[in-house]
Amino acid sequence: MRRIEIAPSILAADFTDLKKELKMLETAEVERIHLDVMDGHFVPNITFGPPLIHCIDDVTDLFLEAHLMIFEPQKYLKAFKNAGSDIIIIHKEVLANPRPLLEEIKGMGIQAGISINPGTPWQEIKDVLAIVDMVLIMTVNPGFGGQKYIADAALKMQDMAEYISNAGFKQEIDIGIDGGIDPETIKDAAAKGANVFIAGSSIFNADDPIQRIKELRKAATDV
Ligand code: DX5
Ligand code: ZN
Repeated sequence: MRRIEIAPSILAADFTDLKKELKMLETAEVERIHLDVMDGHFVPNITFGPPLIHCIDDVTDLFLEAHLMIFEPQKYLKAFKNAGSDIIIIHKEVLANPRPLLEEIKGMGIQAGISINPGTPWQEIKDVLAIVDMVLIMTVNPGFGGQKYIADAALKMQDMAEYISNAGFKQEIDIGIDGGIDPETIKDAAAKGANVFIAGSSIFNADDPIQRIKELRKAATDV
């Protein structure tokens, strides 16, 4: 059976009580924590950077996924690795050739991922699939939590997933979906081939986040 992983994005969490939020996520047995890093240039919003990730790494053993929505990611790879990131995901849109950076990330002994915006065809990352641990498909234009799921942006995942399963790469590749994921849209994403599901507002704005995580997992598994 396909491995399903839930990755809550802490962008929608209570930052004044992050330790409690992280304990809650551990209780809910999520597989990863998704960390949305924004620089105010690649996206029109600014969030947080390595110091916060360091604090999070100090209080949890969960797998930390750094989603870098920033220009010039090459300047910050070491800082994100040293902060405790277990995977660093960079965006294709900021790099003519992402391969050297992905290799550098792998060389640091952690996982490497590549992300594409709704408007970017998956073929633009075809030549790096052989070396990535994860592809992250955006189903919103990055920059903010709480946006509506763009179903059309998930369509390309089917072709890509088929290509990956036929290509016979030596490593396993996770296919993540990010933006507007809730108990309904997660079914569409799972049916199209995703196995890692990022969700922010749907989890943290729920009356019972632990229950919501269970619902998400069940909806993705039942597809
Ligand atoms: C968008 C971020 C997402 C986002 C998810 O730029 O990459 O991870 O915070 O939040 P929701 O689930 O609220 O769309
Ligand atoms: Zn994200």
